[in-house]
Amino acid sequence: MNSKKFSSSAEARAFFNTVMMPNYNPSPVVPVKGVGSRIFDEEGKDYIDFGGGIAVTALGHCHPVMVEAIREQSEKLWHMSNVFTNVPALELAEKLIRNTFAERVYFCNSGGEANEGALKLARRYAHDKFSPEKYEIISFNNSFHGRTFFTVCVGGQDKYKQGFGPIPEGIINVPFNDLEAVKKVISKKKTAAIIVEPIQGEGGIFAADESFLKGLRELCTANDALLIFDEVQTGMGRTGHLYAYQGYGVTPDILTSAKSLGGGIPIGAVLSTEEISSSLVVGTHGSTYGGNPLACHVASKVFDVVNDPKTLSGVLEKRERIVKKLESINAKYPFFDEVRGRGLLIGLYLKEELRGKAREFLAPCAEKGLLMLVAGLDVLRFAPSLLISDTDIDEGLSRFEEVLRLR
Ligand SMILES: Cc1ncc(COP(=O)(O)O)c(C=O)c1O
Repeated sequence: MNSKKFSSSAEARAFFNTVMMPNYNPSPVVPVKGVGSRIFDEEGKDYIDFGGGIAVTALGHCHPVMVEAIREQSEKLWHMSNVFTNVPALELAEKLIRNTFAERVYFCNSGGEANEGALKLARRYAHDKFSPEKYEIISFNNSFHGRTFFTVCVGGQDKYKQGFGPIPEGIINVPFNDLEAVKKVISKKKTAAIIVEPIQGEGGIFAADESFLKGLRELCTANDALLIFDEVQTGMGRTGHLYAYQGYGVTPDILTSAKSLGGGIPIGAVLSTEEISSSLVVGTHGSTYGGNPLACHVASKVFDVVNDPKTLSGVLEKRERIVKKLESINAKYPFFDEVRGRGLLIGLYLKEELRGKAREFLAPCAEKGLLMLVAGLDVLRFAPSLLISDTDIDEGLSRFEEVLRLR
C-alpha cells in the first residue's frame, strides 16, 4: 500500500464515488505501479496489461527512455505557453514532418482536441479558399472522434450526443465502407471535409476497405474537399506502420494523432500541408498547454523508439503470435467468430450468444490478473504496448484461457 489515506483498493474505489463526477465507472482494480506490460494494484497483485491505457502506452509502463526523458526535461523547462518558441516542439514537429506527408504541425493535448483543430482548420480553409457556404463535414456511422462538443457531434454515435442541445449545422453521417452513400451527399459547393478513422476503434474495430479509402481520396479531390484521417488510435506504430495511411497507400490532407504519440504523456497533433495550414493564421486557433516542452520532449523520445523498424516489424510478429494463440484457444472454448483490426489493434467479434456481453469478460479477466478492453458491446479489444514481450503475451493469454475454461 503506497497511500496514507487508503488501506485497500476497495476503500479507494469507494472513495471515488464521493469525490468524482459520475461520468466514469472504473474497475475495482486500483493500479498503483506499472513496469512494461505488468501492472500492480494496491495489494501487490500483478496484472498483464492488454489494454495499454486504451492504445496509449506504446512503450509499456515506465519505459526507461521515457523516465529519462521526463527527468531530463523536468530539470530544464516545463511550460512557457505558445507566447514563446519551444525547442522540443520544433524537434518533434521536424520528426513528424520527415516521416509523413505533412509539412506543418499544430500541437494540442488530446485526440479530441486534435480533431477539433482539424475540423476547424478544414472549415476555415474551405471558407477562405472557396466560399462561406462550403462548411459541410461528412463522417461515418459508428465513428468516434472525441468528446468536445464539435467532435462528439461529428462522431457517428447518437448516444454520445443526446441531451447536449442543438447539434451544429452541416454534419452528415453516412454508413462506413459505403462509397455510394458518400457520393450521394458530397458536393463541390458545400462539402468542406470528410473525416474517417482508417480503422474504427471505439465503434468495434472495423477496418476500412482499401478501395473505400481510395474512393474517398478521389471524391475529395474531385470536390475540392479535404480528407481528414483520424489516426488518434491507429497512429504511432499501432498497425505496424508509423501511421495506418502509409499501409493503405492513401494520403490524407489532414491527419490527427494523440494517444501513443505521448506514450502516456498528454499530447495531440494535427498534421497537414503548408498550403492548407496557411488558413490557421495568427489568432484563429490555439491552446495554452499545446505542445509544451515537457510533453514534446517525451513524445520525441517515444517517437524514436516507435519509428525504429524493429518496433514496427515487431508489431506484426506480435499480432501473429496473439492471433494464432487466440485461434487455438477458440478451437477449445469457442467464443469469437471473427478477428478484426490490424497490427496490435485487435478486435474479437464475439459469437452470437455472447454478443452484447463483451463487458461481462472484464471482471473475470481482472480476477485472473488480466486487463482487457471492449469496443462496443460485441467486441473484446486488445491494444497492448507495441513492445509487449512474448512471455507477457503467453502469460496473458493463458490467464485468458483460464477465464474461458471457468465460464
Ligand atoms: C479515433 C479516436 N479519435 C479521437 C479520440 C479521442 O481522444 P481523446 O480521448 O484523447 O480526446 C479517440 C479516443 O478513444 C479515438 O479512438
